[in-house]
Amino acid sequence: QRLPMGSCPFAISDPVQQAQVEEILKPLILTQDVIDRVRDVFEDEMKLGLAKNPPKLSSLQMENTFLPELPNGTESGEYLALDLGGTNFRVILMELKEGTIQREEVKYYKVPEEVRLGPGEQLFDFLADCIKDFLEKKHYTGEKLTLGFCFSFPMHQKALNVGILVHWTKSFNCPGVVGKDAVKMLNDAIHRRCGHAIDVVAVLNDTTGTIVKGAYVDHETAIGLILGTGSNACYLERVSRIEKWEGQHDAEEVVIDIEFGAFGDNGVLDFMKTDFDREINRNSLLVGSFTYEKYFAGKYLGEIARLILVKLVDEELLFKGKCTEKLRTVGSFTSQYVSHIEKDSMELSTEETEKILGEFGLSYTQDDLKIIKYVCAVISERAANLVSICLAHLLCRMDKPHCTIAVDGSLFEEHPRLRTLMEAKISAWAPGKQFKFLMVEDGSGKGAALIAAIATRLRAHSKA
Ligand code: GLC
Repeated sequence: QRLPMGSCPFAISDPVQQAQVEEILKPLILTQDVIDRVRDVFEDEMKLGLAKNPPKLSSLQMENTFLPELPNGTESGEYLALDLGGTNFRVILMELKEGTIQREEVKYYKVPEEVRLGPGEQLFDFLADCIKDFLEKKHYTGEKLTLGFCFSFPMHQKALNVGILVHWTKSFNCPGVVGKDAVKMLNDAIHRRCGHAIDVVAVLNDTTGTIVKGAYVDHETAIGLILGTGSNACYLERVSRIEKWEGQHDAEEVVIDIEFGAFGDNGVLDFMKTDFDREINRNSLLVGSFTYEKYFAGKYLGEIARLILVKLVDEELLFKGKCTEKLRTVGSFTSQYVSHIEKDSMELSTEETEKILGEFGLSYTQDDLKIIKYVCAVISERAANLVSICLAHLLCRMDKPHCTIAVDGSLFEEHPRLRTLMEAKISAWAPGKQFKFLMVEDGSGKGAALIAAIATRLRAHSKA
C-alpha cells in the first residue's frame, strides 16, 4: 500500500527504495486524526491556561501582557527600544508624531555565546554597554529617555514594566535570571554602566511588539505571530473570558501571550512525537522544554532535515550510504537550506539543492535530489500544519468579522511555501473566517518603541 506523499510529487526509479523512504518519513506526515487531536488538546490547554484554579497545569502560559490598548494615533515623542531574543541585540531610537513614525535610528550588536550562556548580570551589563555606545555614537544629548524593552522569552508579567523570567529559551541560558524581574536587572545595569537617565516603562514579548506594529498599520490586527528562530503567538482576548484575570476591572480586552512554543511540555502531545523529535530534544540546549517549537521553528527545522537525511544515509537509501563529517555535525544543516531546497521544488530546479550538497562535499544522483526535496517538503508541511492549527483555533475563538495576523520572523519570510500552505490550511480549518497575513517589518523593535509611547500615554492619562 502506497503511503501519503505530502504535497510534493515524489517518484524515483526504484519503487522499493521509494517505499522505504516513505516509510521512514511516514510518522512526520500528520493524518487528519492527529491534526484534530492536536487542535482539541490546544483548545483544552488554552482553557486550562486561562483558568483560575486549574485542576492540572497547562503547558500554555497564556500570559497577561498588561497591554490594554493598541496605538491610537496620538502618540508623540522620542522613545528608545531594545530588542533581545536572538543572537543580535538591537538598540533603536524612534521619534513619533501623532502616531506616525518620523525617524528611526538602529544599531545591531552581536551577543557573543559566552554572554548568552554566562552569568545574568554580565548579560544585562552587556545590554547597558550597548545602550551607552549607541547614545554616544548618535551624540544623543536629550534628557531623560523612555524605553520599551522587547525581551522575547516567557515572562510572568505583573505589570507592563515588570517581567519575571519563567525560563530561558532558544540560545540563551544565563544563570541567575530565572525568577527575577528583567526590568529591574536592566535598570540596575543601566545605573551601573550607563550614566544616562532612562525610564524603562514597558517590557514585552516579540509577539506583543508584532501585534502592536501590525495594529499601527492595520487596525484589524488581532493576532501577532512570530515564526523565526522560535515561534509563538499572542492575540486579543476578551477580559470576561479570562478566569485568572487580575488586572483592571474596567478593561475589556487584553493581549494574551500564549507561549505556544512550550505547548506539549507536559506530555499532552507525546502522541505525535517521532524519533527525530526525541533526538532534537536530546541534543538541544534546554532539554525537555519548548516541545512545540522544536517540531518546526527556525532553530530546529534544518536540524530535523539533517537527522532524517543521516537516517536515510545509514539505511543506504541516500548518497549510496556515504555520509560526510559535515552532514553528521549537529547544527550544520540550517533552516535556510530547507527554504532554499523548497524554492528549487517550486521552481522545478535543482540548482540550490546541488549547491548545498556541494558545500557538504556529498556526491549524489538525480534520485538523491528528489529524496532531499521530499524530506524538506514533508517537514515544511508539518510546520505549516502545526502553526495553522493554532491560528485557525484563535480565529474561531475570537470570532471577529475580519482579522489581520501580523507576522514577523525569518522562517516565515524566507520559506517560499509556508505562507501559501498556511493560508490554505487556515481557510479549511476556520471556515468562513476572514483573515489575512500582514508581514510586519521589525515588530519587536518598532513595536517596543510604540508600546513605550502607549505606556507614556496611559500614565499621563491616569495622572490626569
Ligand atoms: C520563544 C520564546 C517566546 C518568543 C518566541 C519567538 O518561544 O519563549 O517568548 O515569543 O520564542 O521569538
